[in-house]
Amino acid sequence: MDVLASQTPAALGVKGLTKRYGDGTLALHDLDLEVPAGSFFGLLGPNGAGKTTLIGAICNLVRPTAGEISVFGHEGSSMHARRMIGIAEQEPNLDKFLTVFETLLYHGGYYGMAKGEASERAEQMIDAFDLRAKRDVEAPKLSGGMRRRLLLARALLHRPNLVILDEPTAGVDLELRHELWSYIRKLHEQGTTILLTTHYLEEAEALCDEIALISGGRIVARDTATGLKDSHGVGTLEEVYLKTVSSGRIALAEEAART
Ligand SMILES: Nc1ncnc2c1ncn2[C@@H]1O[C@H](COP(=O)(O)OP(=O)(O)OP(=O)(O)O)[C@@H](O)[C@H]1O
Ligand SMILES: [Mg+2]
Repeated sequence: MDVLASQTPAALGVKGLTKRYGDGTLALHDLDLEVPAGSFFGLLGPNGAGKTTLIGAICNLVRPTAGEISVFGHEGSSMHARRMIGIAEQEPNLDKFLTVFETLLYHGGYYGMAKGEASERAEQMIDAFDLRAKRDVEAPKLSGGMRRRLLLARALLHRPNLVILDEPTAGVDLELRHELWSYIRKLHEQGTTILLTTHYLEEAEALCDEIALISGGRIVARDTATGLKDSHGVGTLEEVYLKTVSSGRIALAEEAART
């Protein structure tokens, strides 16, 4: 193994992560996952597999029942780890009283940027995400796609080392999808680690250098798209998905029945 590579901490290290919600739902079950620094990593799985719960736990939005999380070697709940992550959540959670510009400016402040720097960066992101005409408009007055643009602009504002995108292209028009991917690709080329969830398998295959399939709160397969297809003896990622995902669902149902 490359000595240097072995010394670089993973962008994300998840060990034995379990989440049981208050109503008894077992959303994550002893999940292990390592995302190498600098990778473009895809997390695929069906509705209810545990993707958003996993992301929530990484970003301190969901309190794990058990397990450990590290971000570039820092303990997941530390301020250092928090500042290294940029997240665009699946459900747009924007303050309805703030304009586009204010949303970005306050986010910068929250992440420790000086006001001048945050303001300059906010203007940059407004242009990058084509929101100039809506700069002084509050979030509820934006269209759904514009809200998603703002969500992404906010996630990237503080120049995070690890960008987590939870279904960023759901409900997004073709043009934005292309723009978004060219922007994210550029970020990735500059060294940013990307963790992406999507239900568009072809998107994941085109973008991600590694893919993990999650089902029933566990990682059920992980490899490059080519590696996944080869090891399952199939020709498409969709076939791998269908094969692995059903096994995960059965495992969780058995586990739930036992406990
Ligand atoms: N706050 C909550 N309380 C109880 N159960 C929850 C809560 N949030 C999520 N769950 C449950 O946890 C499981 C995993 O949900 P999660 O949102 O992580 O799935 P997901 O993989 O992101 O799915 P999707 O593709 O639909 O976004 C589901 O059974 C879901 O109903
Ligand atoms: Mg989700």
